[in-house]
Amino acid sequence: MKKHALIIGASQGIGFGLSNILADRDWNVTGTYRSTTEQDPNPAITWLKLDINDTDQYRAFCEQLQSQQYDAIIINAGIHGPHCTFVDNASDEDLFELYKTNTISPMRLASKLLPYVKPDTGVLGFTSSLMGSLNENTEAAMPIYSSSKSALNMLIRSLRPNATEHGITLLSLHPGWVSTRMGGEVAPVSVDASSIGLAKVIENAQGKQGHHFLDFQGKSLSW
Ligand SMILES: NC(=O)c1ccc[n+]([C@@H]2O[C@H](COP(=O)([O-])OP(=O)(O)OC[C@H]3O[C@@H](n4cnc5c(N)ncnc54)[C@H](OP(=O)(O)O)[C@@H]3O)[C@@H](O)[C@H]2O)c1
Repeated sequence: MKKHALIIGASQGIGFGLSNILADRDWNVTGTYRSTTEQDPNPAITWLKLDINDTDQYRAFCEQLQSQQYDAIIINAGIHGPHCTFVDNASDEDLFELYKTNTISPMRLASKLLPYVKPDTGVLGFTSSLMGSLNENTEAAMPIYSSSKSALNMLIRSLRPNATEHGITLLSLHPGWVSTRMGGEVAPVSVDASSIGLAKVIENAQGKQGHHFLDFQGKSLSW
């Protein structure tokens, strides 16, 4: 039977690439978009609309999933946030938008989506970042963005008892520095290379259980 993935934030960049690669690897894929998708949508992908910051949309969104059990749900949506080093130089509005999008909304959505992950073998993944690791990002490069992913990693850990009870594997994923709207043109990793790697990491994680911090090449990262 075909595996089924739900990719949250699939309109462009890594989410769009991962959706296409999983479809190429014979997965059924449902992707979400906020307003439009980047290109002509792949007909193999089913599209649903969701702004992760609009919790009023969650109930109707979940109703559209019906009783589907996904082999993998990946919460990928994210933003860079304010381009400054110090919190003092960023506006409250920009900071709140960042932490809401990268940290709070992924967790609120995850608690709603956990029942839709297939027990025993299913994966609930989040696009985190190496930048969110205190051990890997020792100089605190891009501290504001990075801290939104550090906090995300800790909150994902809080899902572990519930995930363990149902045999679900939790992943904090680092996609590499990827050439997207966020990563910029100079980024060394292409969307395709990152997406192919992430697809393999997701497939290999099935049934592993626990909470793992992995990059797109399957390397384990320190927290
Ligand atoms: N690129 C990198 O080098 C890199 C490195 C480490 C981690 N990451 C993480 O990887 C993820 C994807 O990044 P990317 O590089 O592919 O960036 P991107 O090209 O800017 O794509 C971001 C995606 O998130 C969606 N999104 C943003 N806010 C949303 C919201 N409120 N509701 C629903 N969808 C929303 C965007 O939708 P719209 O099209 O509607 O804006 C888009 O589909 C992010 O979580 C990012 O932090 C990226």
